[in-house]
Amino acid sequence: MNIDWDALRTRAVEAAASAYAPYSGLHVGVAGIVDDGRLVLGCNVENASYGLGLCAECTMAGQLRLSGGGRLVAVACRSGAGDLLMPCGRCRQVLYELGGPECLVDTPSGILPMSSVLPDAFGPEHLPA
Ligand code: THU
Repeated sequence: MNIDWDALRTRAVEAAASAYAPYSGLHVGVAGIVDDGRLVLGCNVENASYGLGLCAECTMAGQLRLSGGGRLVAVACRSGAGDLLMPCGRCRQVLYELGGPECLVDTPSGILPMSSVLPDAFGPEHLPA
């Protein structure tokens, strides 16, 4: 599938406008392409109980499932100011579950597969049958 990365990055910045981030002040948006060509979006949703805040990737995971499921093939994460943000460690694991090792991620080092940004990942294949 041909990925329009500039368009995906723009959608991530736009999604950050929906963020609820009164504590950190960092508005985060994420945009993903699904294997059927769908676009899914997420934004961070913080909480007064700080540790309960949701990263943008987590809310995107919900939107992926609510809008028909499928596998993520490409993901871009940006701040509202347009800066590239690398998904945190927990979010890499969330993305790995839904996109697997071949899902592409926009990183400061270029567009890389999940297998490079979460090497030797724990995944569904490690669970007993
Ligand atoms: N954040 C995300 O939404 N995604 C990430 O991958 C990294 C961090 C959010 C969580 C918190 O609301 C804010 O950025 C500051 O850490």
